[in-house]
Amino acid sequence: MSTAAETQLLHEAARRRTFAIISHPDAGKTTLTEKLLLYAGAVGEAGSVTARKGQKAATSDWMEVEKRRGISVTSTVLRFEHDDVVFNLLDTPGHKDFSEDTLRVLAAVDAAVILIDAARGVEPQTEQLFQVARARRIPLFAFVNKYDRPGMEPLGMVDHLTETLGLPLVPITWPVGLPGSFHGVIDQRNGSFHQFTRVTGGSAMALETVMAREDAETAGDETWAVADEELELVGEFADEFDAEAFARGELIPMLFGSAAWNFGVGLLLDVLRELAPSAQPRAIDDGTLRPVDDPFAALVFKVQANMDPRHRDRVAFVRICSGRFERGMRVTNARTGRTLALSFAHEVFGQDRASIDEAFPGDVVGVVIGGDVRVGDTLHLGATVRFPPIPTLTPESFVTISNRDVNRHKQFRRGLEQLDQEGVVHVLRREYSQDPVPVLAGVGPMQFEVAVERLRTEFGATVSTQALPWAAARRTDAEGAVKVLADAGQTDVFVRADGTQLAVFPNRFVLDRFAQRNPSVRLERLIGADEPD
Ligand code: G4P
Repeated sequence: MSTAAETQLLHEAARRRTFAIISHPDAGKTTLTEKLLLYAGAVGEAGSVTARKGQKAATSDWMEVEKRRGISVTSTVLRFEHDDVVFNLLDTPGHKDFSEDTLRVLAAVDAAVILIDAARGVEPQTEQLFQVARARRIPLFAFVNKYDRPGMEPLGMVDHLTETLGLPLVPITWPVGLPGSFHGVIDQRNGSFHQFTRVTGGSAMALETVMAREDAETAGDETWAVADEELELVGEFADEFDAEAFARGELIPMLFGSAAWNFGVGLLLDVLRELAPSAQPRAIDDGTLRPVDDPFAALVFKVQANMDPRHRDRVAFVRICSGRFERGMRVTNARTGRTLALSFAHEVFGQDRASIDEAFPGDVVGVVIGGDVRVGDTLHLGATVRFPPIPTLTPESFVTISNRDVNRHKQFRRGLEQLDQEGVVHVLRREYSQDPVPVLAGVGPMQFEVAVERLRTEFGATVSTQALPWAAARRTDAEGAVKVLADAGQTDVFVRADGTQLAVFPNRFVLDRFAQRNPSVRLERLIGADEPD
């Protein structure tokens, strides 16, 4: 690479901020996303994302489940530029059953915003997502949303978050007044006060009024004294902002706001720009770090078919980790050794696809692919390089899946293979019995609904599923498998496409009893289920 090209690459990598927002459905992720775009000037009017959501529901026929349930199953990537920083915002599905998608997205980002509803706090079914984010050790931010409505008082929220997330929080902003009747927030970084006003028609950007607190404080209003006391208490108990602990994901900066009223969104954007890391050297499978200016290498974190029925193709979403992406470049898939041309690259913004010609470390591009590309693959130039495998969650639901139309057997098989490659579900095979009926494993039953629907619409295969009685699984090895199978009980052993042997048990009780009786048997959690590893 020429010196000028290298300087440009390092400059571009340094101005990337690649992050995801993780939250419980309804906490306000769509609203916050819209407002971030609005603040960054990427859209002229809020509602564009929602409008795209609607448009998608109207035009996409393949994701019936998404429409029926009114949830977003598929991740999208939004890129916007603000104050010379390029933000890549990767969307995550909120529903617990699609947590494995979130896990993959977390493998592709450099930071995550945990979005919390001020009244509901961290809901149990979302806790797993947060634990997954923690396990990745990426820097985390917390944004407490819906402060315009009654909710937990601020100290209570700090306690609640510290307890549920198991990490110390450092408030960057602090509310004056209680949720539902608050005046605004004090920006701890410089002591300025951001006044909250209920602007009508939240679609246009309402600039927050920033003032010195003396100008905002009115005589006799006790809420200010309360905020001071709270801040003093928080100062005593909360850790000082320690940049290194934050970088390791061990300390969470926290902000309060109201996405619906555009409040606190600009501050969040500022804090992301200041604190979220840029694209950094990334660990490869031998444990060494690959500098961002090494030759091109990218991680496939999502493979998705037929996002738009007009384009019957597959798109691999890759996170660029090093080097410069140029449209048309030929790269090698480290797993297969095959080369492929990244001919059609798309920046994905909601449903729109705009061709992009070049991209830099930190960016995410969708490339149209044929052939064998799987989630977790590394695409690279030059000497072989592999990023570590993306972890998977311990499955908790299992079904058998049967093809109902003998004439469509080939399509059924092909469909299952594709869904497995995309990670929609894990297709398990039996190595220890002759039963030919495939078994699907997932985190939750909604994954199976998606699989059934896609087999029908994309492969013309009519299938039926039957729930299996297992609810606990552990990774084992060949020796362990023999012991599990010899155990009288409703246990079994299956093998995933990546070779992982999974021992399955009807419940935790049976699993624990087996583990006690067979202490030498390898029984490991993947991550996520029950409690974190
Ligand atoms: P999600 O993507 O996380 O599922 O949440 P989404 O943004 O769709 O927001 C869920 C609901 O919460 C929406 O109300 C939205 O308007 C509301 N909301 C989001 N942020 C705030 C906030 O800061 N304050 C208040 N009071 N409400 C907020 P909805 O009734 O479901 O839809 P809508 O009719 O308002 O669009």
